[in-house]
Order: sequence, then structure tokens, then C-alpha cells
Amino acid sequence: MYEVSPRDGLQNEARPVPLEGKVRLIEALVRAGLKRIELTSFVSPRWVPQLADAEELIRTILPRSEGVTYSALVPNTTGLERALRVGLPEIAVFLSASETHNRKNTNKSIARSLETFAEVVPPARQAGLRVRAYISTVWGCPYEGDVPVERSLELAHALLELDCYQVSLGDTIGVGTPLQTRRLLERFLAEIPAPRLAMHCHDTRGTALVNCLVGLELGIRDFDSSVAGLGGCPYAPGAAGNLATEDLVYMLEGMGISTGVNLEGVVEAGRVAERVVGRTLPGKVHQAGPPRVRAS
Ligand code: HMG
Ligand code: MG
Repeated sequence: MYEVSPRDGLQNEARPVPLEGKVRLIEALVRAGLKRIELTSFVSPRWVPQLADAEELIRTILPRSEGVTYSALVPNTTGLERALRVGLPEIAVFLSASETHNRKNTNKSIARSLETFAEVVPPARQAGLRVRAYISTVWGCPYEGDVPVERSLELAHALLELDCYQVSLGDTIGVGTPLQTRRLLERFLAEIPAPRLAMHCHDTRGTALVNCLVGLELGIRDFDSSVAGLGGCPYAPGAAGNLATEDLVYMLEGMGISTGVNLEGVVEAGRVAERVVGRTLPGKVHQAGPPRVRAS
């Protein structure tokens, strides 16, 4: 379970959430048992003002981080310098499989993004940081439509060769369907071992959970999610929240798969998220609550 709500969730809020609200949310996530949490982004505060308090947030959270690995997005060497200054143990680099989304999101071509990461990942590794990578728009692009799997696969190889420990495949705008997911993942898994891959599904069209189930059946064990379904991407019109953490925990635990995460605790964190952003959030288990009876 890789929790992205403080970053992917809060980057998209029209009204930036104050530091104190972010801290309350993260504390609730930790209480629920989440062990990998993406806190924020070291991106340009002009591009994403919602996360302009990255340093302050990390300085507040890191000293209390027992047993939790915190991470943040880093787009370039400026971002890496900022991450190193606050002593973050893990960062994530990100690019898109489609040229237009990559330009809208980072103001550069995919080729230039890879060149940039060649300047970011080796020094990060030398400094002892773990580096994760995202590929966005793998299932489809809001500007270009279908994206060839071969293009994403090539990028995944390039990112792993740079020594990223894992590549998280993004259905950025939540267009994926199960058969497409099966075909796509089978192509990836023919060349890349499952532990090096993760899934990052937005639930725009209600297919995030079922696509993750397809991934689970094929051997994927790492899933990104966001409490109560908080989130979106400011540079992907129509991208709704991520797969809700509660929904994922409910499904996995119901299948006898131990997540280490406490469902009641995540539901409570979802309530905190709702108070912090001041609006109703869409997660299904978040809205229904944990069941009193469990079907056998
Ligand atoms: P740019 O304007 O091309 O950058 O932006 P630049 O290098 O020309 O610099 C312009 C100014 O920004 C300079 O300041 C730099 O110092 C500053 P000035 O001299 O004008 O005062 N700058 C920075 N400041 C702080 N931290 C930095 C940084 N870099 C430059 N790291 C840039 C290029 C990449 C910075 C910009 O496009 C950017 O910040 N983009 C981030 C967009 C973003 O965060 N998008 C959402 C996250 S991705 C996502 O959600 C998808 C994902 O969830 C997976 C999925 O769902 O598929 C991960
Ligand atoms: Mg995302």
C-alpha cells in the first residue's frame, strides 16, 4: 500500500489546505498503519501552489516518522536539492508516456525528462535515497487518446536502468478497463519482474479497483491509493481521485490478504481528510463505512 493522498490528493484542491490540516491528515494515515506515504512535491510553487509548503511539512513530519517511509515528487535537480536539504529518505521522479501530457505537466519533452532524470537519480542514489518512478497516461492520454504499450514499456526499462527501484504505472485519467489492463500488464510482466512494478489507478470511471484486481491476479503487489478517493492531476482535465485506500483495504482483507492497515483507522483518516478539505469525498467504503457483518 503506497498512500498518495497528501500529494496527489492535496495538489488538486482549489483551496490550498493549511499546513496544520496536512499534518492532521498524515498523522491519521500513520495511525491507520500506512507505512509508505507520499507527502508532497518539490515542484515549482508557481505550478502547484497547493504544495508550496513542502519543506515546512517535511520538517514537521520527519522527526516523528517511526517505521514509515516518506516520499515526495521531484521533477529536476532543484527538486532533488530541496529533498536532500530536508533529509527525505525517498523521492519519486515522474514523466508521461504521451508527449502532450508530459509537456503540459512538466514543460519538457519526454526525451528531456529522461535527460533530467539522468542528472537526478544517480546523485540521489549516491546520497542514499530510494528513488521511485511514475509513468503517467499509460492507459490513455487526455490529449492524445490511446498510448502504445511499447512506448510505456521502453520508458519503464529506461527508468529501471537509471536505478529507480520501482515504476508505478499510472492510469492518470481513469480510462482503463480490465481486459485492456490484463493485456497491458502481461506485456510488461513478460519483461519486468512484478516487484519492480506498481499500479497507480485513478477511479474516474469506477474501474480502478477491478483493474488492480487484474494486476493482483497477475502478480502485482504494490498499489497506490488515496484515502477516501481524494485527488486528481492539475494537468489532466477530468482526472478524478485515486483509487480509495479504504476500498483497496476492504477488498484485499476480504480476500484474506493482510495489508497491515486497519480499515477502521483508514475510515477515520478519510473523515479527517473530508474535514481538512471541507467537502464530501467519493470513496465507496468511506461513504458506506466498515460493514457490521462480513459475507462469508
Ligand atoms: P519550468 O517553468 O519549465 O522550469 O517548469 P524552469 O526550470 O524553467 O524554472 C522556472 C522557475 O521555476 C525558476 O524560478 C526555477 O528556479 C523554478 P525563477 O528563476 O523563475 O524564479 N523551479 C523550481 N522551484 C522549486 N522547485 C523546483 C523547481 N524547478 C524549477 N523543483 C517544472 C518545470 C518541472 C519545475 C514545472 O513544470 C513543474 O513544477 N511541474 C510540476 C507539475 C506537477 O507537479 N504536476 C502534478 C504531479 S504529476 C501527477 O500528478 C501524475 C502522477 O500522480 C501519476 C499519474 O496519476 O499518472 C504522479
Ligand atoms: Mg496520480
